[in-house]
Amino acid sequence: MNRQVGPLMKGLWGVFLLVLLPTLSLAQPTAAPTSMSDAEATQRANALLRRMTLAEKIGQMEQTAGQPMYTPSAEADRLASSGESGNFLFFTDPVRINELQKLAVTKTRLHIPLTFGYDVIHGFRTIAPIPLAMASSWDPALVTRTTAMAAREARAAGITLAFGPMVDIARDARWGRIMEGAGEDPYLGSRMAAAQVRGFQGDYIGAPGHILACVKHFAGYGAANGGRDYDETDISDELLWNVYLPPFHAAVKAGAATFMSAYQSLNGVPATGNAWLLRDVLRNTWGFKGAVLSDWDSVKSLQTHGFASSAADAAIRAARAGVNMEMTSTTYRDHLPEAVKKGEISEATIDALVLPILKLKYQMGLFANPYVDVERFRRETGSPEQRRAARVAAEQTAVLLRNENHLLPLSKSLRSIAVIGPLADSKLDTMGSWAIHGDRRDTVTVADGLRQLLPQTQIAVTKGVEIERGSPTIFDEQVPPEKLQFTTPAEKKAEFDRALDLARQADVSILVLGEAQTMSGENASRARLSLPGEQEKLLQAVTALGKPVVLVLMTGRPLDISWAAEHVPAILNIWYPGTEGGHAVANLLFGEANPSGHLPVTWPREAGQEPLFYNYKLPQNPENTAHRYWDLTSSPLYPFGYGLSYSSFSLSNVAVNSPQVKPGTPLRATVTLRNTSRVAGAQVVQLYVHQRAGGASRPNRELKAFEKVMLAPGESRDVTLTVPAQELSYWSPVLRHQVLEPGTFDVWVGFDSTTDNHATFQVTAGLDDMTAVAK
Ligand code: NOJ
Repeated sequence: MNRQVGPLMKGLWGVFLLVLLPTLSLAQPTAAPTSMSDAEATQRANALLRRMTLAEKIGQMEQTAGQPMYTPSAEADRLASSGESGNFLFFTDPVRINELQKLAVTKTRLHIPLTFGYDVIHGFRTIAPIPLAMASSWDPALVTRTTAMAAREARAAGITLAFGPMVDIARDARWGRIMEGAGEDPYLGSRMAAAQVRGFQGDYIGAPGHILACVKHFAGYGAANGGRDYDETDISDELLWNVYLPPFHAAVKAGAATFMSAYQSLNGVPATGNAWLLRDVLRNTWGFKGAVLSDWDSVKSLQTHGFASSAADAAIRAARAGVNMEMTSTTYRDHLPEAVKKGEISEATIDALVLPILKLKYQMGLFANPYVDVERFRRETGSPEQRRAARVAAEQTAVLLRNENHLLPLSKSLRSIAVIGPLADSKLDTMGSWAIHGDRRDTVTVADGLRQLLPQTQIAVTKGVEIERGSPTIFDEQVPPEKLQFTTPAEKKAEFDRALDLARQADVSILVLGEAQTMSGENASRARLSLPGEQEKLLQAVTALGKPVVLVLMTGRPLDISWAAEHVPAILNIWYPGTEGGHAVANLLFGEANPSGHLPVTWPREAGQEPLFYNYKLPQNPENTAHRYWDLTSSPLYPFGYGLSYSSFSLSNVAVNSPQVKPGTPLRATVTLRNTSRVAGAQVVQLYVHQRAGGASRPNRELKAFEKVMLAPGESRDVTLTVPAQELSYWSPVLRHQVLEPGTFDVWVGFDSTTDNHATFQVTAGLDDMTAVAK
């Protein structure tokens, strides 16, 4: 990339400065942000480190939670001015961020600027669809663009570090945080991890308008026992290396600057004190050179885990394991100086932990340009351009689950529509969980979107039923829950009846049902996957009227919709679509946009099937896998990779162009994809493989390549999917390293993980020790 500033830009920059300077009362250096090479940043950081006292160094290893609810303002000021905390999180107001920066830069002895971290999970002010939805796009380029949109707004506010992407593999929909990740598959998860890192960070660390990624939660957090958030995880080495770790490794390869250690114990050792994870795997095996943050209080809670004997022991064990920065708890500040004095940890270890933090501050350009332009922030956040990006993302992420007799798309000449459900007109819920800074007033609900798209149609909107979580959430203080409107039995009945009346009078009913935004996300696991409250009763009652019904599902996880899947003709799953959700959904329902999302998770019939995933190892009598329970079909309701479209597509038999695969000679498989309909649309062509025999059993199917292809009506295209031989390797539980084994492999190419479009190929030369490849 050419980072030279041309004459025109120099001129514009001058004009910009003239306009800008009076608005910035803070006397700051005004150099344009530049990237800094790793070597230069290392050299500067080392030079600075040599001038720092131990206390100053340890200050750089602290990250303090902001907003008065966590740290009183005066205390935050003190910590910034004294250098006792070199990093903050949860400040979102650029004026306040500039104030704190000014304190750090002008009052501390060495003028070291602060970093500001925040949960930029799927947007900052403009909220995009949730990450699970973004994975449903199967479009890494879209994910990069949408993540970059979030980064731009956050950076304008002065935030330098996003607590994302979350790349935890989740095979259990009961786990509330499944909504924050890319689902169950290590390959799709790896592609999404890399795409998000690129979106957050841009082409290089310090790229203007970009922020540092923080890849979380390292590692295994998504396998919480029983889907219960925070519970321990027990993951075999084979699954860890082959399923849970690959997205983290992909993020390192994409250049991720920071990692976050997980809360839970992994195979008996808390992740935040786990030297094997943080040193042997992350740094020594993968070559990660950035900084590791703890999760919230997770250093202190090494004690709670029955691992550390005291807060001092917790600090020492986390530091030794390789946690560079402690989030919110203060065991480093409180105990590391004494520990160094006593020789329990060396100052060289502290230096090695501080160095990457200082380097990142240099590379982010914070020393040169610590402040943000508040006017620019006001101008650029929530801009039409940002909103357009959010709408496009929402259109690309919805998954059409059912569409009997082509009920969808609906006709714009409908006379009347009833829009029913607790989520139909809820701005807060449409944004989804982890949208704390999203301004709900910006949000377009499904009802709003329909009203705007169809000004001539009579649109009646009502809730029918209300839903509530009924237990506190960890976000209640930051995002106060909305009050219920109907509380007495009589009020509830009247509202239910009103919904039925409106449905009776309308040509079509659109029911927007699912989970309120507090029902998924952190600390939001469920034992059941049913539609909360009386929603299914409402759906059944409206369907029983015998008129056309569309179910629009708003959710952070697969839900038990077995009844709907049999009785409701059209089901569009929109996840949480974000700020522009209503416009996107209206476009999708009325054919202005064509659904193209595919499931990144296996969709169960009931919670009792969980964990349920497609890439299991072949068992005894595999032909019977759908009948493993005597009281329920054990196959999924919808398989991994599934999603319908308004277009129809045909696919030729898969042709393997390179039947002899070996290192350097990838698998190439070609299919001809044809849009057999009169509607332009996108299809996701997916390639799965299976190794027939080897040193260990390999999964029945594994996704290894995909491409989302847009086709005009009647158009056809040859699609060649390429799988490098190393993608066919796996971590052998027998040899305990990566291997590529010669032998026969199956390959399938189709539109979901159950496709029977099959061929075979041979791997003709293997590799016994792929350590080099793993790096
Ligand atoms: C705890 C969560 O586990 C983590 O994902 C998040 O980034 C931090 N809190 C900060 O909000």
